[in-house]
Parts: sequence; C-alpha cells; structure tokens
Amino acid sequence: MRLDFHKDHRLLFGMVLVGFVGLALVIAVGPALWVNRHNAPLPGSAPLTADEAQGLGVYVSEGCPYCHTQQVRPLPQDRAFGRPSVPADYARLAWLDVWREPPAILGSERTGPDLSDVGNRQPSSTWQYMHLYESRAVVPWSVMPAFPWLFRVEEHPEPGAIVVPVPAPYAPAGRTVVATVPVAGERSRRDGRGRRRACAGRPLRTPRSPHRRRHVRWRNARLGAATLG
Ligand code: HEC
Repeated sequence: MRLDFHKDHRLLFGMVLVGFVGLALVIAVGPALWVNRHNAPLPGSAPLTADEAQGLGVYVSEGCPYCHTQQVRPLPQDRAFGRPSVPADYARLAWLDVWREPPAILGSERTGPDLSDVGNRQPSSTWQYMHLYESRAVVPWSVMPAFPWLFRVEEHPEPGAIVVPVPAPYAPAGRTVVATVPVAGERSRRDGRGRRRACAGRPLRTPRSPHRRRHVRWRNARLGAATLG
C-alpha cells in the first residue's frame, strides 16, 4: 500500500482521525482518569454548607471570577496568597448529572488578588461588608466595582441587623446600610428553569441574554445539588 495522501482522501482523513483519537487518549483522557482515581478531598475538609454554596452562586453570578482567581501557583510571587493549590482542593465538586461536572472557579485574570485564602488575610466581616458595598470606602485606589444591591438601605434597622459602618461620602444620607442574610427556607429550594429564585435576600430575575440564562440555570442547579446532597 502506498501512502499517497494526494490521491486517497480516505487514507488522509483516516490517518488524521487515528492520530487525533490516539493523542487525545494519551495526553487528555488517560491522565484525566488517573487524576480522578488519585484525588481525594483533603483530610479535615468538609462539603460546602448551604450558605457557602449560596455564596458560590453569588460569586459566580456577580462576575467575581472575571477579576479574581482561586488558584495559587507554587511560585514566589504567589506566596502572599497562602499555600499553593492542589487538585484535592477541588475534589468535592459534585457532578450535576452524568454529563455535567461543575467547573472549579479557578479564574484566569488577576485584576484583583487571588481569593483562595482571603478569609485568613482579611478575617474581619465588617471590612468585607464595607469593601463589598463600596470598595473605595476602605481601599481608596480600588477599581473593584461596588455591589450595593447585595445590601439593604434602611431608615430604622431592626435590632440584631448587621449594620455596615460605611464612612461618609459613600454612606446613603440619613439611612443605614444593612447586610442581607438569607431568608430561612428560601435558599434550599430547588427551582426549575428560568423561574425566580431568592438569592442573598433578593429574587434573581431570569436574565435576557441566553448566555446569562444558561449560567443562572447552572448556578441554580448547583445550589440545588449542593443543598439537597
Ligand atoms: C473589575 C474587577 C473586579 C471585580 C468584578 C471584583 N473585584 Fe474584588 N478586587 C478587585 C481589585 C482590583 C481588588 C484590589 C483592591 C481592593 O482591595 O479593593 C479587589 C479586592 C478584593 C478583595 C480583597 C482581597 C484582599 O486580598 O485584600 C475581596 C475579598 C474581593 N475583591 C472580593 C470580590 C467579590 C466577592 C467580588 C464579586 C462580588 C469581586 N471582588 C469582584 C477587582 C474586582
């Protein structure tokens, strides 16, 4: 048999197909199966609580991963972000169904710092609330967007409400910023496609763009899976 690719297109496409499938098995499928078999969650780690899963949903739907990574590289310049990430950090991601595995929110862009270990770097919840309400209130040069819709602004906060001490030019005149807390019962309901869902104290409307719609569906399914399982 002569390997004359110019004359025999079946031979040409056959060789390309065999090469492609062979390479895919050797460099992608095989290693992926190996990693899955050798990857257990770290001792002492626990599955996400319902609140944490809801937080993950907010993190994704507000677009935080566009500017923040959650993957610490074993490089000197990443030392400030805590220990380097390992595959076991992501081993608890539960499959949504046989076709879909939720991606780890690794991120690829560091407009802001890596957030893997931010709870230890910035343990103050008051700082986190103020920063999320309006980052410039605590970091004057920050380019991080403000997320005021994650909060309520009230004239007379109820006793026990989590009051956020927003400093002067950013505080709403004569009123108080209050952190929203999930309303019991609202957060663990698994809802169907495109229906409204309560999130961080507010209903999330079905977005118009198909991409966002897919995304909200994925997020809601993830929340449902995490709270039911
Ligand atoms: C447009 C890019 C951008 C987006 C979107 C963004 N951030 Fe940021 N973030 C930054 C920048 C820049 C900083 C560093 C300056 C500062 O601290 O404000 C930062 C800092 C932070 C910090 C402090 C980190 C540290 O090590 O001190 C936290 C926490 C944080 N962001 C959380 C969030 C969350 C949660 C969201 C989504 C709700 C979000 N960010 C969305 C750009 C962004």
